[in-house]
Amino acid sequence: MIFSVPRRMATAAAIAVAGLLAATAPAALAAPTAVSAATPPDIPVANVKAHLSQLQTIASNNSGNRAHGRPGYKASIDYVKAKLDAAGFTTSLQTFTSSGSTGYNLIADWPGGDPNSVLMAGAHLDSVTSGPGINDNGSGSAAILETALAVSRAQLQPTKHLRFGWWGAEELGLIGSKYYVNNLSSTERGKFAGYLNFDMIGSPNPGYFVYDDDPTIEQTFKDYYAGLGVPTEIETEGDGRSDHASFKNVGVPVGGLFTGASRTKSSSQAQKWGGTAGQAFDRCYHSSCDTTSNINDTALDRNSDAVAYAIWTLGTATTPPPGSSFENTTDVAIPDSPGAAVTSDILVTGVPGNAPATTKVDVNIIHTYRGDLVIDLVAPDGSTYRLKNSSWDSGDNVIATYTVNASSEVANGTWKLRVQDVASWDTGYINSWKITF
Ligand code: TRP
Ligand code: ZN
Ligand code: CA
Repeated sequence: MIFSVPRRMATAAAIAVAGLLAATAPAALAAPTAVSAATPPDIPVANVKAHLSQLQTIASNNSGNRAHGRPGYKASIDYVKAKLDAAGFTTSLQTFTSSGSTGYNLIADWPGGDPNSVLMAGAHLDSVTSGPGINDNGSGSAAILETALAVSRAQLQPTKHLRFGWWGAEELGLIGSKYYVNNLSSTERGKFAGYLNFDMIGSPNPGYFVYDDDPTIEQTFKDYYAGLGVPTEIETEGDGRSDHASFKNVGVPVGGLFTGASRTKSSSQAQKWGGTAGQAFDRCYHSSCDTTSNINDTALDRNSDAVAYAIWTLGTATTPPPGSSFENTTDVAIPDSPGAAVTSDILVTGVPGNAPATTKVDVNIIHTYRGDLVIDLVAPDGSTYRLKNSSWDSGDNVIATYTVNASSEVANGTWKLRVQDVASWDTGYINSWKITF
């Protein structure tokens, strides 16, 4: 089983101090208001696979498919709905007509959270007529089902309102998800904080692809994979080819994961991910062999855990008020020149969007000759901002506030203060530093 360590655990010294508290007490003494989330669970891949076996059985008992308008589709809906009802979700079945047959979307709401800030995860539940559709898209359907059941097991109390959706007739052109968004008023559409799509996440020769859409959602998945040490690539096998397109078209921030369909895995991809170069990510895409044998368990396990990581991280995030500060007070020794640069990390979470043009960086360095020091701020994506150059600046210590235009940087992620001593003799240490948005 794969367990992801949330990055905030990697920097326990980074303490978030709400700006409003800092106004009434010195920041270092203010009661730390941790911007914290509940720890995401490890989703048992055996449970996900058990759902896939049930979907396989449904297909086998219904002419080998679970396609729109066929009995295997409705049986799939009934299976998922019964699990959710038993777990305390409020479910509703939305019906529509396509190609002369009745189609169904299943919507499941977890009671609670901010009704004006909805986080939704979705997957299409229909297969093509030519096969049982276990990777496409039993995989995404089962992963979000098991994540929903984990929400219930944890009795999670998210800040956002959580909703899960299983779409009908995706294979006929995103019909079910389009029907769903078309029936929302613009007010209701505006309440979506985000939509996460999972379509084909257990491909037998997998790649690890992240949709390049909303930056916060994208970063959340990248953070999860960075924690595993597994490289990802941006999804390019047909943007708009799944249900997230329906949401994106009406302005909802979207993201998602994908392990590849009929495209061929390159040799460099096989080197970093394993599997077989020169072969499709899914040789059984839209075929009768898309059965329970057509699943890579490691990919299914990682991506199921990634679904839960995103739901927990995004769904329980609190939004700090503007002016919130994040601080690291752990001392870091700065070796004398010639020595390597040293860094001190601050993990920022829960700040929506980009950093402001007036991002403030408070630096407190104890040093016997400040002129020796070169100081940079490093953004989560690695961009650097020079705060101070070395100089013939007599005097000790750097106790200063720098204003940085960091407006091109996503605020959430690990920021670093990087300090290098470039002249010999004097030494010192980073005492503390703080970033304020
Ligand atoms: N269900 C999609 C389809 O049949 C599969 C797919 C292809 C896909 N390319 C994608 C899903 C990219 C997500 C992202 O077309
Ligand atoms: Zn699909
Ligand atoms: Ca020195």
